[in-house]
Amino acid sequence: KTVLMGKSPPKMAGALPLLGHMLEFGKNPFAYMMKLRNTLGEIGEFRMFHQQMVLLTGPEASEAFFRAPDAQLDQSQAYKIMTPIFGKGVVFDAPPHKKDQQLKMLMPVLRDQPMRGYARVIVREVEQMIADWGDSGEIDLLEFMKELTIYTSSHCLLGDEFRYELNEEFARIYHDLEQGVNPLAFVFPYLPLPVFRRRDKARARLQELVTAIIDKRARKAEKSEDAFQMLIDARYDDGTRLSAHEITGMLIGTIFAGHHTTAGTAAWTLLELARRPEYLDAVLQELDGNFGAEGEVTFQSLREIPVLENVIKEVLRLHPPLIFLIRKVVQDFHFKDYTVKAGKYVCASPRVSHRIAGVFPDPEKFDPDRYTEARQEDARPFSWIAFGGGKHKCSGNAFAMLQLKAIFCILLRRYTFELIDDKDSYQDDFTQMVVQPQSPCRVRYVKRSPIADAQSGAALADNQQSQATTTPGFRIMLDRELCQGHATCMTEAPELFRVDDAGHVTVLQENPSSELLKKARQAEKYCPTQAIKIELNNRT
Ligand code: HEM
Repeated sequence: KTVLMGKSPPKMAGALPLLGHMLEFGKNPFAYMMKLRNTLGEIGEFRMFHQQMVLLTGPEASEAFFRAPDAQLDQSQAYKIMTPIFGKGVVFDAPPHKKDQQLKMLMPVLRDQPMRGYARVIVREVEQMIADWGDSGEIDLLEFMKELTIYTSSHCLLGDEFRYELNEEFARIYHDLEQGVNPLAFVFPYLPLPVFRRRDKARARLQELVTAIIDKRARKAEKSEDAFQMLIDARYDDGTRLSAHEITGMLIGTIFAGHHTTAGTAAWTLLELARRPEYLDAVLQELDGNFGAEGEVTFQSLREIPVLENVIKEVLRLHPPLIFLIRKVVQDFHFKDYTVKAGKYVCASPRVSHRIAGVFPDPEKFDPDRYTEARQEDARPFSWIAFGGGKHKCSGNAFAMLQLKAIFCILLRRYTFELIDDKDSYQDDFTQMVVQPQSPCRVRYVKRSPIADAQSGAALADNQQSQATTTPGFRIMLDRELCQGHATCMTEAPELFRVDDAGHVTVLQENPSSELLKKARQAEKYCPTQAIKIELNNRT
């Protein structure tokens, strides 16, 4: 359809020659974006050097950003800095049709079924990390979470060989790759600097190891079940396999995407709980009630802890690790009365959008009850966007939440935590691409006195059983633009949903009977991309 040319977005004053607003933005990008929102509203322009950037905030502008097709807003440019690490021709450096297929091949790794196996691995890793903690001690919380999450993600994604046989070498390789993430790489990614040389050597060595494991696995009778194996088995539409170069890049890309993001969120969760005893008590009550001293932490039990889940959501609202997301405008982009011309960049900001009082009242207050049934402040689509939204919403979001919940189910059952420094001294560090608590981030742990055994979860499940029989029929609304093919719906309600290997969902019944309502509601609740809505038929 023809769209009339709109106005240019309003501009921030005070741009310096050459630098634009770079100095103020660079000092504290969050504070600058917040100022822009307060001055200009949901759309406003600023300059980084010569580059015009348009910031879109609030649910409506964020929705326009996330729903725009790739042919209009291109994500790849923003991730160029990662090309030497992920590899040429891998994901964001691949042509669009290839990138789409590669991202799709990653989906089986993050789908519902493998997730059930990851829960066990994560629980084991957390148990091991604290096995020799003793009665009390001090740790740097961020460093602890970084170490823990590299073990969990390398174990789940790369598999046993890297976790056990190659653990130390992988740690060295990963360190050298991380050091290579340097702003200089935006402009001169292959300058002959020692950090870049070490990065390239590490990438090459990792590929050697990956190639050797592919060969070794091909000779083995029994098949591994990790993400690595799923990528070995994956095929492009034309039937060709991923190369070892591509598999290496996709694995390391996934680990990078989930590492600092999850570690920072885990650290903030504990810090926020440690400075708010009332919420810590509520979480402990829930965990002790559900799990007791020795109750098993499983995929299913991790789904039934709404108090902890709401705490983590509130942490991600106030401290989203990715504070702004960038796209290059390749075809003019229209929002309300405005047009952003091709060639400019547009940004969405989870951190700013999460602080709009009209959406989240008293936005600076840490208040996990915002997400309860009664309040549902995040119900408006594209209001809570810590994992992004739309087609490129974080495909690891269910994995991240599973991991975060598992970490606290184990840690808080064994230990209490206290802040060592003044509680207001724990702040976000905006100098990094992924925002995390500033270092040092010291806490003291003390072993808890023994907890009673939990009452069985069966009573809870029985209670929830109830309703279905007398409720009216319902309709299933599926938003295909949001669906990524996680297939959680198929596990929850196989009578209602089928998801094929390519991630395409079929709704199997037009007018399902009311007996299936409970299952349909589960599918709606657990869909990682909120693509399912259940509407009750009105039979009056
Ligand atoms: C994308 C946040 C953990 C894998 C994204 C995006 C956000 C995000 C905001 C969208 C980026 C954009 O639109 O430009 C987070 C947060 C995490 C987390 C806050 C933890 C608390 C993970 C984990 C994994 C992962 C654990 C993998 C295991 C990915 C992938 C994408 C992505 C593959 C690209 C999706 C696509 O473009 O199709 N993440 N992430 N993330 N994330 Fe996460």
